[in-house]
This record gives sequence, C-alpha cells and structure tokens, in this order.
Amino acid sequence: MLGEQKICFSGVQPSGNLTIGNYLGAIRNFSTFSEAYKCFYCVVDEHAITVRQTPADLRRRTYETLALYMACGLDPEKNTLYVQSHVPAHAELSWILNCYTMFGELSRMTQFKDKSSKHADNVNAGLFTYPVLMASDILLYQTDVVPVGIDQKQHVELCRNIAERFNQVFPDTFTVPEPIIPQNGKKIMSLADPTKKMSKSDENQNAIVYILDDRDTIIRKFRRAVTDSDTVVRFAEGKDGINNLMTIYSCFTGKDMEEIEREFAGRGYGDFKLAVGEVTADALAPVQARYRELLADKAGLEAQMKKGAEEAAYYARKTLSKVQKKLGFVQIR
Ligand code: TRP
Repeated sequence: MLGEQKICFSGVQPSGNLTIGNYLGAIRNFSTFSEAYKCFYCVVDEHAITVRQTPADLRRRTYETLALYMACGLDPEKNTLYVQSHVPAHAELSWILNCYTMFGELSRMTQFKDKSSKHADNVNAGLFTYPVLMASDILLYQTDVVPVGIDQKQHVELCRNIAERFNQVFPDTFTVPEPIIPQNGKKIMSLADPTKKMSKSDENQNAIVYILDDRDTIIRKFRRAVTDSDTVVRFAEGKDGINNLMTIYSCFTGKDMEEIEREFAGRGYGDFKLAVGEVTADALAPVQARYRELLADKAGLEAQMKKGAEEAAYYARKTLSKVQKKLGFVQIR
C-alpha cells in the first residue's frame, strides 16, 4: 500500500518476440489494473542475463519491449514503466534477501530445474537465485498484487515466504503480495498442436502468431492452423483447435461462443479461419503502427526510461532504507 492506494507490480523479460498469447493473456489486461492500482511495470534486463544474451540484441529488445508495452495501451502517465537495471535498489535488496532465502527452497523451483537442464553448460548462480531478484522487484514497492502467468505462480509464492520470514524477524517491513493469474479462456494454444500452450520458444513458427506479424503472415498462419475432421464451428470437448480459434476470435471481437457458433453456422472451417485471421490482423494493426512510431523515437523512449526510473527509485529507496536500518546497517547521509 502507498497511502490509500494499492500497488500492482509486474515484470517482463526483454527476450524473444511477444505472441498474441502474451497479448491476450497478460499485456492487454495490464492497462485495466491502472484504474484500481498504482502500477509498476518493469523490463527485467537483469533477469535476462541469467541465460547468455548477445549484448546488441539485449539492448535492442529493451527498447522494443518498452515500446511494445506502451503500444499495447500502457500509458506512461498512469503507470510507472522502467528498466530494472536503472534502479540499483533491485540488486541491493536482492543481496539482502539472498540471506533470507533457503538453498532448499530455491532447489525446488521448477523453472530452475527446467532451465538448468536446458542450459546445462551454464548453470550459473544467477539462474539459481533468479527468484530472489524477482522477490526483490516485488517487495521493494510494497506490492499488493502481481499479475503473472501460471508458470510464475511458484515464484510469487516463494516471494510471499521470504516476505513472511523477514517480517517475522523484523515486523511490518514488507507487504505480502498476492499473485493474480488470468482466469480461463485466455490461455491461447499453439496453432500447430492445440493441446500445448502457444509459446514464443516453439521451434515451429507456424504454431505462433506474434504481435508484430504482418497481416499476410497472420492470415496464413491461421489458415494453416490444425483443427479436426468435423466441419461445424462449435465449442466442444475434443475440438481443441477450433476451441482455441474461437477463444481468439472471442477475445478480439468480444463475442461469446454461442454468437460465434451462430455467425458461422453452415459455413466451413476455411471461412472461419480467415475471419479469425482478419480480426486478429485488424486488432493488431493500430498496436503495430504505434509501436513503429515509438521505436523510431529512441530519444523519446530514453526520456521515458529516465522518468520511469526516477519514479521507481523514489519508492524503492524508501523500502530499501527501511530494510537497511532494520538490519543494523549504519546510515550516513
Ligand atoms: N520471472 C518473470 C517471467 O519470466 C518476470 C519477472 C521478473 C516478474 N520480476 C518479476 C514478474 C516480478 C512479476 C513480478 O515472466
């Protein structure tokens, strides 16, 4: 809490290209939080280096990620948008919280187990303590809610445990945050294998629609989407491919499943797939145009980063000083 206002925090890695799954499942909803919460959205470049990055790519993607979030509707006047490495308090609190996090807890993190098998040649300590940096991100702002995908729920739970442990020794230090996981219907599946989540790391490019794909690409990918041998557009068990396309159509048009079934009654899958492609391309066109505009103005983005970092640092400093004082670190001015 910040006075009367509740706090919302989320982080996004500047890696990979974002998909319509990220857009519909998370980013598009971020702006709705700014009505009810004071929101901090952070581009987490320090998390990104737990796996090897090409510096030029990391730099470019940091700009791109910020621009894309703004293009998706996050207003920098209403939200604090910034880059993690611009606010040193994240790394400072992270060291402290490392000393309040158990080796055993970190060993149980499923993302660590996955990533260390995927990057077996680089199982570095940062990969292991990644969730502690994430806890620092969250706790620095006295966060009440953390909108995240289901894959990050375990990390937010660890963050709660760290906060509670610290508060037990030093009462009233941190707000204990709640994760907010987007509910049903918003999970977008792969177009090639609709039993699997659409993932930006999928090797099959036809499985994924990116926010920045051009119109023809979007329409082509939907045309190739895997469906079933039935011919009727209806939402039903066992029709994973059609269910997924209907979900996407519903998200972009606001129509419910019954309306969609009526709209496509007596029409084939071909018509339906084309329609899904068209509404997706139409919805993304203004996002893409705004993105290009923002990205063309690098100085503008840098000014935004600076303003966001100053805002964030103000709140982060307050929590960090409180923690340092409680721990017994000598304060000098
Ligand atoms: N670990 C998150 C992910 O990969 C990104 C992240 C970093 C984050 N810090 C955070 C998310 C704090 C929510 C809150 O998606």
